[in-house]
Amino acid sequence: MIEVKDLKKSFGTQTVLNGVNFEIEDKKITVILGKSGVGKSVLLSNIIGLTIPDSGSIFYKDKDITKLNLKELNKIRKNFGVLFQDAALFDSLNVFENIAFPLIEHKTVKNKKEIKQRVADMLKLVGLSDIEHKMPSELSGGMRKRVALARAIITNPEVVFFDEPTTGLDPVSAMSIANLIKDMQEKLSTTCFIISHDLSLTFNIAHKIGLLDSGKIVDFGDRNHFLNSDNNIVKNFINAYSLGDTI
Ligand SMILES: Nc1ncnc2c1ncn2[C@@H]1O[C@H](COP(=O)(O)OP(=O)(O)OP(=O)(O)O)[C@@H](O)[C@H]1O
Ligand SMILES: [Mg+2]
Repeated sequence: MIEVKDLKKSFGTQTVLNGVNFEIEDKKITVILGKSGVGKSVLLSNIIGLTIPDSGSIFYKDKDITKLNLKELNKIRKNFGVLFQDAALFDSLNVFENIAFPLIEHKTVKNKKEIKQRVADMLKLVGLSDIEHKMPSELSGGMRKRVALARAIITNPEVVFFDEPTTGLDPVSAMSIANLIKDMQEKLSTTCFIISHDLSLTFNIAHKIGLLDSGKIVDFGDRNHFLNSDNNIVKNFINAYSLGDTI
């Protein structure tokens, strides 16, 4: 579905991505792990076309999105839903307006009644209801993530990208977000790409797991491969996590 090839990105003298290679498989959940500050959000930003890489390619169905102009890129982005790291709701819009935003922006649904129904359906899917009128400031962190998830999937996108979907949540809320992503993926056969440092989320829902370190994907494979990896960086990452270190 999406193939990242030799992707490089530096900011000034700081090299963040130094030849990243991996593939996001169709209708699967792919998670890229990495410690804080390693470049996960930068990687995501490149893949969704918000940042231009220094070199390398990102193929979406055989089209290199790094070579597209804005108009072509926007056309492709209609197939993407994004849950940003901080939920990134529009503070001045209520829950209904936030969730309906992509539908209205993409002009996919024009009928008001249908938009209302779609928003209500999405809210139900993420385990919330009758909060359309609330403002983001009135919601808890977990609720904000759920609303952001509802907004990310309302257009029924082919690919949904998640930046740290569980960070800042208590273990129970984190688990319910994990289950939500899993259920949604199974129900809608969505291709999911998650960047995170949450191993519990990862081992619960990922089909494919990669570890980003020092600008490269140092290991990539399924859950078993990852758990039994010979790679020392992977082993250290898993150990640090199980010891409860901040990573
Ligand atoms: N626009 C930018 N300009 C300059 N430096 C940047 C920019 N964006 C990111 N960086 C730098 O790139 C590095 C990686 O940042 P990034 O946000 O991708 O980390 P991360 O892995 O997502 O971390 P976290 O887990 O804390 O979210 C950081 O050192 C950051 O300061
Ligand atoms: Mg980040």
